[in-house]
This record gives sequence, C-alpha cells and structure tokens, in this order.
Amino acid sequence: MNFMSIAIALHVLAIVVWVGGMFFAHQVMRPAAVTVLEPPHRLRLWVAGFKRFFPWVWLCIATVLITGFWMFFQFPTPPLFMHIMLGLGIVMMLIFFHVFFAPYNKLKKAVKEENWKVGGAALNQIRMLVGINTLIGVITILVAIAGKSF
Ligand code: HEM
Repeated sequence: MNFMSIAIALHVLAIVVWVGGMFFAHQVMRPAAVTVLEPPHRLRLWVAGFKRFFPWVWLCIATVLITGFWMFFQFPTPPLFMHIMLGLGIVMMLIFFHVFFAPYNKLKKAVKEENWKVGGAALNQIRMLVGINTLIGVITILVAIAGKSF
C-alpha cells in the first residue's frame, strides 16, 4: 500500500472542503444573504451556518496537519514550496482559531441577546478574516501545485 498517495488524497480533500467552503460562504452566500434577508434573520442564518461548517473546518485542519507533516518528513530536504505551504497553512489555521474564539463567540452572544449592531460588527470581522483566509488558501494551492516545477 502506498501511504503517500493516501496522505495526499486526504490532504487535498480536506483543502477542497475548507477552501471551497470559505469561497462559497464569502463569494456566493454572503452577497446573496445581504440582498434577501434583514439583519435579524441574516445573523441567525450565519450562526446556524457556522455551527454546521466549523466542525468540518476543525476536521479539515486536523487532517491537513497530520497528512501534511507526515508527508513533509518523508523528504530528507523538503523543497522550498513545501516550507511556504507549511507557513501559509499555519497562518490560515491561526486566523481560523481567532475567528472561532473571538468574533464567532461575540456573534453568538449578540444574536442570543438580539443585539444586531454588535452582531453585525462581529459578522463583518468574520467576513474580512474569511476573505483573507480564502485568498491565502487559493495562493497556497497555487504554490503547492506550481511550486513543484520551480
Ligand atoms: C500546514 C501544514 C501543511 C503541510 C506541512 C503541508 C505539506 C504538504 C506536502 C509535504 C505535500 C506533498 C507534496 C508532494 O509530494 O509533492 C503537500 C501537498 C499538497 N498540499 Fe499541503 N501542506 C500543508 C498545508 C496545506 C494548505 C493550507 C494547502 C492549501 C490551501 C495545501 C495544499 C496542498 C496541495 C493542493 C497539495 C497537492 C500538491 C500536488 O500533489 O500537486 N497544503 N502538502
């Protein structure tokens, strides 16, 4: 059995779910929700959506870390693109941890208290950070794929 091909398949699958999910939320659902829903419904929708998406992100992060580091240490001297992937991957994870423990908590509390102003500000912060993470995710995918030929 070739463990490398299993690891790379799981690694890429986790990236597809994480980065694809962020892309859909940021580029598709967010502008659509703004045009259709008033703040109380929109903020409640996002709390319900994040509640379902974030457990998948935790699973993706665990998968990316385990498979990524395992593959990384199969190389006696990992090439530069792997170091860049590792660095950008860690940045993406730290940004997610911040989103999860700071503005997402604030959003949940504000929605419970029906404080739409504070909730809107927290959602805005999440939107900005998820936008940044989507961009870093796309760049990391390009580095991972194109980096091999440099
Ligand atoms: C956090 C730590 C990470 C580590 C240690 C890591 C490490 C690795 C390693 C060693 C490979 C195998 C490359 C090869 O055999 O040619 C790989 C493949 C890949 N990684 Fe990562 N990675 C990490 C995060 C990420 C992230 C965040 C992304 C994208 C957003 C990503 C996207 C990919 C892709 C698309 C491949 C497949 C490349 C190919 O075979 O063409 N990785 N990763």
